[in-house]
Amino acid sequence: MKALVITKPGGPEVLQIRDRPVPQPKPHEVLIKVAAAGINRPDVAQRKGAYPPPPDAPQDIPGLEVAGTIEAIGDAVTLWQTGDKVCALVSGGGYAEYCTAPEGQCLPVQPNLTLTEAASLPETFFTVWSNVFDRGRLQPGESLLVHGGSSGIGVTAIQMAKALGSVVYVTAGSDDKCRFCEQLGATKAVNYKTEYFIHTIAQLTGGKGVNVILDMIGGDYTQGNIQSLAEEGRLVLINTMKGKDVQVDLSMVMRKRLFITGSTLRPRDRPFKSAIATALKKTVWPLIEAGQIKPVIHQTFAAQDAAKAHALMESSTHIGKIVLEFS
Ligand SMILES: NC(=O)c1ccc[n+]([C@@H]2O[C@H](COP(=O)([O-])OP(=O)(O)OC[C@H]3O[C@@H](n4cnc5c(N)ncnc54)[C@H](OP(=O)(O)O)[C@@H]3O)[C@@H](O)[C@H]2O)c1
Repeated sequence: MKALVITKPGGPEVLQIRDRPVPQPKPHEVLIKVAAAGINRPDVAQRKGAYPPPPDAPQDIPGLEVAGTIEAIGDAVTLWQTGDKVCALVSGGGYAEYCTAPEGQCLPVQPNLTLTEAASLPETFFTVWSNVFDRGRLQPGESLLVHGGSSGIGVTAIQMAKALGSVVYVTAGSDDKCRFCEQLGATKAVNYKTEYFIHTIAQLTGGKGVNVILDMIGGDYTQGNIQSLAEEGRLVLINTMKGKDVQVDLSMVMRKRLFITGSTLRPRDRPFKSAIATALKKTVWPLIEAGQIKPVIHQTFAAQDAAKAHALMESSTHIGKIVLEFS
């Protein structure tokens, strides 16, 4: 098969097509003929050598999510048959014509989605469910602030939280990105280049603050996050793009009885990821099928143009997801 390989750590140009053997599914895995693979920011970090894959994942083929048709199944698979159309969360190896996936991490492709659209879902949907609803315990009627509202993660969090009954505020880096987030369901999007989110959130919540914050920024946002949380509020970190070393006023954590948490999805075990798939299928997949939550795809690229797709992601000019298509 053809696969996109990280030939050495470096810029987008190190992603090159190579011939590789088709992987064989283990007893509880399926083999997917990949139609499309979503691109995620962690793939960029892996390409640069800053995010090593877990030991059981392909070491030099990136890609955390795919959609396609099941070509073969392992001996112990009970959930799927050959010919089924699925999207899947994988721990690597998605940028290839064939990819194996644990059967519990596959979800059906709804009739109203293309395979390209389906490929854009798993990584951000699993991450948002796990962090906003499981760790962050966001409840209907509560409010959520999402930093990076126009990211793949952001457009998923806005739609999911809104559809499940929350008020959503976001920050983003341009007026266009802000308008897009508001059209998608955010009550207010703050352009962090011209406005300080702390003041706006205080104003919008009558000084009370928000119940949950999903943060991928870290750094000097952290003190602002603590200030912007309501009593019993939850701060959930999924990255620290502006730095991991911070100075904060911890007395506010005590006074407001806050919870600070975070997680990374990729190293978690299969039962953990399968449980998220089950929850998504029950609660979120019907909302996608009803058209209440939609894939947001900024641009698709042919697989051989993966370097251009990575360069686009690093430019941060995109809104939503970037997807590679395999013919
Ligand atoms: N913990 C986990 O399990 C997990 C899983 C998946 C993803 N993630 C993280 O979630 C984040 C979003 O992932 P994604 O795939 O959705 O990425 P993405 O679409 O590329 O979005 C990242 C956004 O972050 C903003 N940004 C980039 N560099 C920044 C910086 N230095 N300071 C502030 N903002 C910056 C940009 O928006 P603006 O132009 O608006 O600034 C950009 O659009 C990434 O940090 C990723 O590593 C974590």
